[in-house]
Order: sequence, then C-alpha cells, then structure tokens
Amino acid sequence: MCGIFGYVTNKEDALGPILIAAAERLTYRGYDSVGAATINDGKIDLRKDTGKVDSVAAKYNIAEMRGQRGITQLRWATFGEPSQINSQPHLDSNGDMVGAHNGNVVNNVELREEFMAEGMTVRSQNDGETCVHAVERYIQRGYEFIDAIRLAYGDLQGDYAFVIGRANDDKLYAFKKGSGMVIGIGDGFTCLSSDLPSLLPLTREIIRPQDGEIVTLWADRVEVRSVKDGKIVAHKTETVTETMDAVQKGGYPHFMLKEIHEQPQVARELLHLLDGSPEVETLIEKMKKARHLYFIACGTSYHAAMIGSVYFAQLAGKPVIPVLAPQFIAQYAPAVGYEDVGIFVSQSGETKDVLNALEAGEKRGMACYGLANVIGSTLTKATSFCLPLCCGYEISVPATKTFTNQVITFLYLAYRMAGLDTKELEKIPELMEQTMETTSAQVEKIAGEINKWDDMYCLGYGATCSIALEGALKLKEITYAHCEGMLSTEFKHGPLSAVSKGFPIIFVAGPNDVPLIISGVNEVKVRGARTIVIAEDDSRLRSNADDVIVLPKSDASIAPLLGVLPLQMLSYHMSVMRGFDPDFPRNLSKTLTVD
Ligand code: G6P
Repeated sequence: MCGIFGYVTNKEDALGPILIAAAERLTYRGYDSVGAATINDGKIDLRKDTGKVDSVAAKYNIAEMRGQRGITQLRWATFGEPSQINSQPHLDSNGDMVGAHNGNVVNNVELREEFMAEGMTVRSQNDGETCVHAVERYIQRGYEFIDAIRLAYGDLQGDYAFVIGRANDDKLYAFKKGSGMVIGIGDGFTCLSSDLPSLLPLTREIIRPQDGEIVTLWADRVEVRSVKDGKIVAHKTETVTETMDAVQKGGYPHFMLKEIHEQPQVARELLHLLDGSPEVETLIEKMKKARHLYFIACGTSYHAAMIGSVYFAQLAGKPVIPVLAPQFIAQYAPAVGYEDVGIFVSQSGETKDVLNALEAGEKRGMACYGLANVIGSTLTKATSFCLPLCCGYEISVPATKTFTNQVITFLYLAYRMAGLDTKELEKIPELMEQTMETTSAQVEKIAGEINKWDDMYCLGYGATCSIALEGALKLKEITYAHCEGMLSTEFKHGPLSAVSKGFPIIFVAGPNDVPLIISGVNEVKVRGARTIVIAEDDSRLRSNADDVIVLPKSDASIAPLLGVLPLQMLSYHMSVMRGFDPDFPRNLSKTLTVD
C-alpha cells in the first residue's frame, strides 16, 4: 500500500530510469497512481498520473528526467480519489519543495483547512500534500529546515513515512512514524525506500531508521537526528546478504505460481526452525496457562488462525478463540486481562487492523505474541516475541506460502502442546510436492470447465471449513467472481436456493468427514449442482461426486492443509484464463496499513 523511493547523487544524473525501476519494484504493494520528481539545478520537475508504472512513465517520458535528487511514489488511494492532482509527489505553495509519503495522515482534513486558512496553496485532497505543507508552515514562520521538519512531525498524526526535498538544497530529508522505511548507502549515492527489496539491486549497505528520527541524505553520507531534541543518533550500517532472486519470478510466469511451488521448501525450513526455537517452549507454557487464548488476524491469516484453533482443540484439548482483529477490539478486548494470551497472526506484520487489536490487548495487560513473515515489521517489534514464518518475500498479493506456513506453525504448536511426536509433520513437504504433482493437470482442466461461472461455493467441515473459506477468498481475490466459503452443513440453511444446473460447488473433505460430505454432495447434486470434492481417495466419494481431486494419504491433521493447494491452483488458473494478473488483483493491497 503506497511506496516511496528517494535517490541522491552528486552528479547531474539520468534519474528517470532509476526511478522507474524502483517504482516497478514497489508495485507488489498495490497502487493506482505513479509519480516522479527530480531536482536539478534549483528546478523541480514533477510528472505524475493515475495508471500503471509503464503507462505513466511512457506518457510523461519519465525516463528522460535528470537531476541530483529524485523521488518516486506509488499511491494507493485513501485520502482523495485516484486522480492526477491527488497523485504524489506534491509541491508546496510556491513550488520550492517536493515531497511524498506512504501511509495515512489521519488528521489530514483538519490540517488542510488550517493550511488554507494560513494562505497556503492546497491543490489536492491527498495527505501526502499535507505532509509538504506541514513543513512549509514552519519554514514560513522562519524555522531552519530540520526544525521545520521536527515540528511538522509533531503535527502529522497517523502512520506514515515521508520524504521531502528542496529546490536549492543538495539533500533529501525523510522520517517515519509507524510505517517502514529503509535507507541505502551506495557508491556515490544514497537512497531510501518503503521496503528493503526495492533497494537491493542498488546497494546492500543499509540503515533502518526508527520512528521519531529524521534522516538527511547527502550523495555520500546520511545523518540521523532525533525529532525530540534534534541531536544526532548513531546508527550502524548493516550489510544485507539476501539475493535479489527472492524478488524475481524465477522462471514462473507469475509470482503467485512461483510462491505456490515454493511451499514444500519453505515448510521444510520452517519445521527446522521450529525444532530449534527456544521461544516455542516459552510460548507453549504461556498458552497452556492462559485463561483464554485468542488467535487474532485478518484475511488469509484469519483462516490460518481458525484452523489453528481446531487443531488446538482436537489435538491438545485446549480451546482457542479465533477472531478477526477488529472484532477482537469490540467483542473481547474489554474483557481480557493479565491471565489471557493473544497470538497475533499477520504475513506482513503491518496490517493496521491487527496492530490496533494488539494495542487494545496490551492496554488490558494481555500477554501478546506474534506470528509474522516480515522480520523487522511493526508486529515483530511490538509483541513480546514473534515467531517467524520463514517464507522469504511473498510478492503476490494473494497469500499462499505464508498461509501454509502459518497453518504448519499452529499444527506444530498443537502437537507440542499435546506431547505428540512432531516427526509426523516432517512428512508435510513431501506430501505437498506429491499433491502438486498429482492434482495440477486435473485442477487446470476443471478450472477451464467451471470458469464461465461467476458465482460458486466452497464448503468444508471442521478443519477443512477454514480451508474452504481460504479457497473461496483466493477465488474472490483473483478471479473477481463471487465464491462463498462456508461450513458444509450450513449450505442447506439458505444458500441451497442458489443451486441451478451446472452450478459449481467445491467440497474439501477431511478423512473423518466423508459420510457428512457425501450427504452434502447429494443434497446439491440432485438439484443440478456440479460437485467437485478435494479429499483422499475414497470409493464412496468417487461414486457420488462429479469430480474427486485426490490428495495423497496423510494423517487426518495434515490432510486439510494439503487441500488448500488445489484451491490455490484453481484460483490461479481461473484468474489467468480470465485474462487477469493474479499477482496484482485490482483494488487490493498486500499490506493494508489503514483502518
Ligand atoms: C490484505 C490482503 C490479504 C491478507 C490480509 C491480511 O487484505 O489483501 O491477502 O490476507 O491483508 O494480511 P496480513 O499481512 O496481516 O496477513
């Protein structure tokens, strides 16, 4: 969700291609507008519009932009509709400064009114412009630039990262409050970005500023100062060793397909890590003693939390309340206390809804732990400790490998709570490989057959209910069709009326739920539905359903996890067949840092 990038060099450089390439690397975050600004010999050149990076870059010839400092921004609209004027970067009243932000300034409306009343030229509704005027206000009042930024920081409420430059100044300035920002130091240049991957092709020397710090970037050095007192804060430069391979498609046509195929490998790595983690033991002790145990998350991570709660009850006899993060605030936070434990689950570790719930739980003294993929994210810092998901970068907006590793983590924890031997779980990576091998061709064929339908259902029971919900979410996210996931037994209480000839209904069946699923299958089949069952081989299912997608034989706790792989592939193929880009579905964002 939005991304900023800044670059400072001491040569009058061809910055356009550098800015376009950086913008491309930020696209996975989701966006609707693109902009670039360069500062060259006291003049600011600003070009921006709604649209994709390549089309905006071509329309405005961004490649030809030159200068010693450059900023690019990808915008995902929150304040102000997607439009050219609301696109970022933004100028101050006189066009002497240019800046861009990612995140949200929540007092945007109030500040804009104040700025207009103070006589400033406010051109857009966008809160990125508000950040620029917030600095301008104190420049007008006669403050030095750094002091103006420090005061602006105090006025801007919300979670954001911001970069700003002046026409007659050889530096860029940046600060962050609640959003990610990384600084890169290269040979003859410095740069900054909302995330690390977009810096990796340029440099491996990085600094991670904290909230409440202002960074000044010269071409050959950076300086970090505290907002509080303006004093210099020492930061060590880190050398990053990760390769760029992780952020490239590795031969697959889409990141989603690559990430689906990475699942067995990341599962293997996760299981190793969990075996060696001292934190697992601590967490288990805390969870065992908890009066109430909550798994709190949103979207796909919530589905992992749901299945986790089934595992905890079925395997370890420990009841868990899985809850969507905003609902936790309303329904449970007022009643939680020191005796309770909350596990906050998030791929990105930045989902605002989850962070809000964390804050609400912490306020009441609840013990808060995390489960996140992005190390260094807000969730990993704000919880007592956070178990990593070990998935590497997940670029595709629809989560796949992070979901399966979340489920495996919960399954592992349930095994350990129950005192079961986790050796059984070591079979998971191979079972996943087998599932992909044996089901892929059939799933692609079925995708072609049901793709004309814009409405369908995905049903499951017990642990597979969460898998059905997750499959339905994947289908909704990237095919733009409606697919509702639900408990199979609920289908007869209303949705049954939707069934007509050929109407696709997918069932995910655990090995112990076959008789129940057979009833469900027949109930809809006699009314004309096309029934597709994902389950282990069973002659009863074969003789009742239209199609059975056969999973390899596994333990009853592992089978539901395998069931999500054909659903991921089904949604992938249907999305591609419909001509959509499964990696970057319209209107969606990988990292939802807004309420
Ligand atoms: C967004 C994404 C979903 C994701 C959800 C939670 O809505 O589009 O795919 O599941 O956020 O994200 P998290 O990073 O907290 O797991």
